[in-house]
Amino acid sequence: MSGKVVIKLGGGLITDKGSMKTINTEAVRSVAKYVAEITDLGFAVLLVHGAGSYGHILAKKWSIASGSRRSILESQREAVSRIRKDMIELNSIVIGCLEEQGLQCESLPPSNWAMGTGKEFSGNLTIFENEKGVIPVTFGDVVDTNDGTEFGILSGDDIMLRLSNEMVGVGHAIFLIGDAPGIMDRPPHQDGAILLETWGPNDSVNSEHYEEIDVTGGIRLKMERASEISRNVQNVWIIDGRQPSRLLELLTRGQTIGTRIMPS
Ligand code: IPE
Repeated sequence: MSGKVVIKLGGGLITDKGSMKTINTEAVRSVAKYVAEITDLGFAVLLVHGAGSYGHILAKKWSIASGSRRSILESQREAVSRIRKDMIELNSIVIGCLEEQGLQCESLPPSNWAMGTGKEFSGNLTIFENEKGVIPVTFGDVVDTNDGTEFGILSGDDIMLRLSNEMVGVGHAIFLIGDAPGIMDRPPHQDGAILLETWGPNDSVNSEHYEEIDVTGGIRLKMERASEISRNVQNVWIIDGRQPSRLLELLTRGQTIGTRIMPS
C-alpha cells in the first residue's frame, strides 16, 4: 500500500480545550500506535496537530487572531512568544509519543516557515517532502503577517488544506476529532444526535462553535476545509480520534465509522 496520508489531530482530541495546557497523553499515544501501523503498511504520513488549550486560551485572552492592537501591544507580544513556546512544548510531546512507536519525525513549526493566516498563507511547502520514513509534523501556530497586523493565528485546518492539495500523491486527508464519531446532524452532546455517513456543503447541519474558547473556526472550519480538499483528494474523512483503529480500517478497507466528506 502506498500514497500520502495527511492526518490532523484536533486540539480537542489531544488536549482538554477548557483548561490551560492539559494534554491527553493517552489519546496521543493511541493515535501514534496506529500511525506506526499505517506507516508499516507503506503509507507516507504527514501530521498536523491543533493547539487546544496550549494555544486558544492565551490567544483568546490577548486577541491574537485579530492582530496587533496598540493599547495592549506589549502584552500581546509576550503572549505571542508564550504561545509559540507552549506549542513547541505540545509538539515535542506529540513527537515523543510517535518516537515511542519507533517512528522518525521532523518538527516543522509554522512560525519558522509560514507567513500570513487563512488558506492563502505563504510558505515553502517543499520542506514537507521528506525522505522516506520520516514523518513531518506541523501544527496550528501564531505566525507573522505582512499586512500590518504583525501576527495572527494560522489554523492547522488551513495547513491541512494546502498540504493535501499541493503535495503530490495524497490519497487520504483525515481529521481526527475528540468529541464525536464524525459530523453529527446536531451538536454531539444533544440527545438523538445522528452520525452522518457523508457530508457536503449542500447538506445542512446544526453545528455549534464555542467562540468563548476557540479562536479559529471550530468544527465549521474543519468541514469547509475538508470539503475543499475533497475536490482534489479522493478520500477525505472526519473520524473519531478516540477510536484510532478506525484510521487503520479506513486505510485498509476504504470504509469505517465516521463521515466521508464530499465536494460541493
Ligand atoms: C490553532 O490551531 C492555533 C493556535 C490557537 C495557536 P488549530 O485551529 O489547528 O487548533 P485546534 O485544532 O482548533 O485546537
